[in-house]
Amino acid sequence: MKKIKDHYFYKAKHDGYVARSAYKLEELDKKYRIIRKGNFVLDLGCSPGSWLQYASKKVGKKGRVLGVDLQPVNHSLPTHVKVLQADIFDLTAKDLEMDGGLVDVFLSDMAPKTTGIRATDVQHSFALNQQVLSLAIELLRPQGTLLVKAFQGAPLEGLRSAFVESFDRVKLCKPKSSRAESVEIYLLGLGKKHRI
Ligand SMILES: C[S@@+](CC[C@H](N)C(=O)[O-])C[C@H]1O[C@@H](n2cnc3c(N)ncnc32)[C@H](O)[C@@H]1O
Repeated sequence: MKKIKDHYFYKAKHDGYVARSAYKLEELDKKYRIIRKGNFVLDLGCSPGSWLQYASKKVGKKGRVLGVDLQPVNHSLPTHVKVLQADIFDLTAKDLEMDGGLVDVFLSDMAPKTTGIRATDVQHSFALNQQVLSLAIELLRPQGTLLVKAFQGAPLEGLRSAFVESFDRVKLCKPKSSRAESVEIYLLGLGKKHRI
């Protein structure tokens, strides 16, 4: 990933975050109160680990955070954070249960390895999010929250409709710290419906 040395890059260094991505989650969390003390949080695509750092502070020691990524996380984390190095296409909901149960908050900042061909990258991102959504439907507790990174493009409307079927409120968000030229956008589902 190319490092852009902008305001958020230097702010992350100053605040001890391993990546500037932390500020995207922070901004959305401040606006929508996504993560609360004591929550069980699943973070897919967690490497290098700035969302883990942010989420672990927010949930506190009584909460739990489980991160999953193809890549390792190479910095030390508090004991209430665990990391699984795996491909989410190889995992079932059972593999991701936290303390044997459902999760309160399901995050995915996953992005496919980009090819430079926009339509292909958008399709790969959509495939990741279909997997995320099917895992979230099984693993997220009723009234739970799902936040996923998506790529702007044709499949986004389909993904949004699937969110509308599954959540009471759905928001499409572009955080300030997400570069304007980036095709990324975040879909937030608040209040998972009891019956889907
Ligand atoms: C933008 S980075 C996430 C940054 C992270 N939120 C942070 O704050 O440090 C996207 C991550 O998605 C991961 N990823 C992409 N495809 C994946 C897959 N199939 N299974 C697991 N992780 C995947 C990549 O390895 C990459 O580390």
